[in-house]
Amino acid sequence: MSITTPGFWVVIPAAGTGKRMRADRPKQYLPLAGRLVLEHTLSAFIESPLISGIVVALDADDNYWPQIKPASTKPLITVAGGEERCHSVLNALQKLAERAGRDAWVLVHDAARPCITHEDIERLIAELEDDAVGGILAIAVHDTLKKGTVEHRIATTVDRSGLWRALTPQMFRLGTLTDALQTSLADGYVVTDEASAIEHVGLSPRLVLGRADNIKITQPEDLSLAEYYLRNRLENT
Ligand code: C5P
Repeated sequence: MSITTPGFWVVIPAAGTGKRMRADRPKQYLPLAGRLVLEHTLSAFIESPLISGIVVALDADDNYWPQIKPASTKPLITVAGGEERCHSVLNALQKLAERAGRDAWVLVHDAARPCITHEDIERLIAELEDDAVGGILAIAVHDTLKKGTVEHRIATTVDRSGLWRALTPQMFRLGTLTDALQTSLADGYVVTDEASAIEHVGLSPRLVLGRADNIKITQPEDLSLAEYYLRNRLENT
């Protein structure tokens, strides 16, 4: 494989501990619809013909990864994660730079979003592959938003027009994203997703409408909702 191989690569940050789940293991290794959360996430990208390969960032003390048995014909590379999600992503991008050129597209996707569909992956790629910047899957905010005080009283109602919830995958070119993350970290800017680093360097990522069932497993009740979505899908295929 040449260093200038273009194509679409996936980075999966999976080095979090997921404390909010109050489980005995990181949330990406919890059982879900007959497999582990991370197995569902990985298989969506392994099965997608558009994806060249996957880099997974793992915690240095991760003892669960050997339980993952992905049948992958594509490169599936692991790398040590970092202190925050953005450090894990940066480590993965640096590893990927050994195989892919700066122009290669990278889709960064949370390990904890196991309900990602081929339809969403394909729409994101189709909408962005000719874009100068890249972009993210997102959903327009439909709920009324309140800004609260520390005493949990409503301070004000926030105008929701033009507001979107950022999902993953977030798709940017390898070189642009690596540079943007490095600049953001050097500036002490708090990076909560890849798009925020890209925004920090003055670029404006595209918003691509994603599916509402692409939820992030964060709290215990999210697992039953994800289980419902995945089983429903299996029954309908
Ligand atoms: O904690 P949160 O749900 O926001 O994490 C989003 C994703 O980032 C998860 O897939 C988690 O495993 C990953 N992560 C990481 N390295 C960290 C923290 C989180 O790869 N240091």
